[in-house]
Amino acid sequence: MNLDTLLHQFDCNNGLSEIINAICKSSVEIEQLVNRVFLDKTVLISKCIQNSSGDEQHKMDILSNEIMISNLTNSNSCSVLISEENEDAIIVDESHSGNYIVYFDPLDGSSNIDCNCGVGTIFSIILDNDKYKTIENRVLTNGNNIICAGYILYGGSTDMVIAFKGKGVHRLSFDRNTTEYVHTGILDITNKNKKVYSINESNFERWDIDMKHYIRQYRKQESKYTQRWIGSMVSDIHRTLLYGGMFCYPSDENNIHGKLRILYECFPMAFIMEEAGGKAIIAKMSNDR
Ligand code: AHG
Ligand code: MN
Ligand code: MN
Repeated sequence: MNLDTLLHQFDCNNGLSEIINAICKSSVEIEQLVNRVFLDKTVLISKCIQNSSGDEQHKMDILSNEIMISNLTNSNSCSVLISEENEDAIIVDESHSGNYIVYFDPLDGSSNIDCNCGVGTIFSIILDNDKYKTIENRVLTNGNNIICAGYILYGGSTDMVIAFKGKGVHRLSFDRNTTEYVHTGILDITNKNKKVYSINESNFERWDIDMKHYIRQYRKQESKYTQRWIGSMVSDIHRTLLYGGMFCYPSDENNIHGKLRILYECFPMAFIMEEAGGKAIIAKMSNDR
């Protein structure tokens, strides 16, 4: 089954399939860039400036962002685009405007590009159903409004993982011979038996007392857990979905609100996790160390 058949099966209409196709087209363009990153000198210009979240921006972040904005605008199905790489919401021109708001991190884990580790694109889609409200009120909604979310992992193989509300999580793999995505499975995190916890444990001393206690349970010999941390959320979440286990990025003394961004990273991944039968939680840091 290819992506078109899947979208047809889920009755994606009113522009939703156009958006997913635009993301799909973008991913093919981004994967070509990722593939050529060490060959094309115009792409591999490391660390340039800081983005709106205060991170260093790689040339690849900028190029991937341009690709996403251009394809999503040309889908004629989006009203507002919210990108990790843009300070402000991008209001789509009237002539191209549609019914959905799309949130995205065009290239997650870009600090891993220089060492050729898996990077990804994360997205989520909500219906923009009250255009009389202010942009802030339309855009700053909670994760329960997501109708579709997914990511593309540019790894050994390029995989698209896509979840629709109430319809589970689907994995499609990019076939470079036919240049299309082919359905390669349904992802269900329940009943997995690999015991992996995924967290940047170098932050341990800066966590609050509850977080330290929680992770100490995984460290106990009898828990039989092992630890893995790639440092690209898309790769770490993908492994967690396939093998089972836990992924976590808690706040710490240096990052009191945590490091991951709620709109571009946490909400879409939480939606995917829950659709796959898992759980997603958010908590406040206490002052106790
Ligand atoms: P981005 O490259 O979009 O800024 O996001 C990187 C994020 C996420 O992918 C990953 O889980 C986390 O940063 C890694 O954090 P550490 O630097 O603590 O490993
Ligand atoms: Mn990111
Ligand atoms: Mn990013």
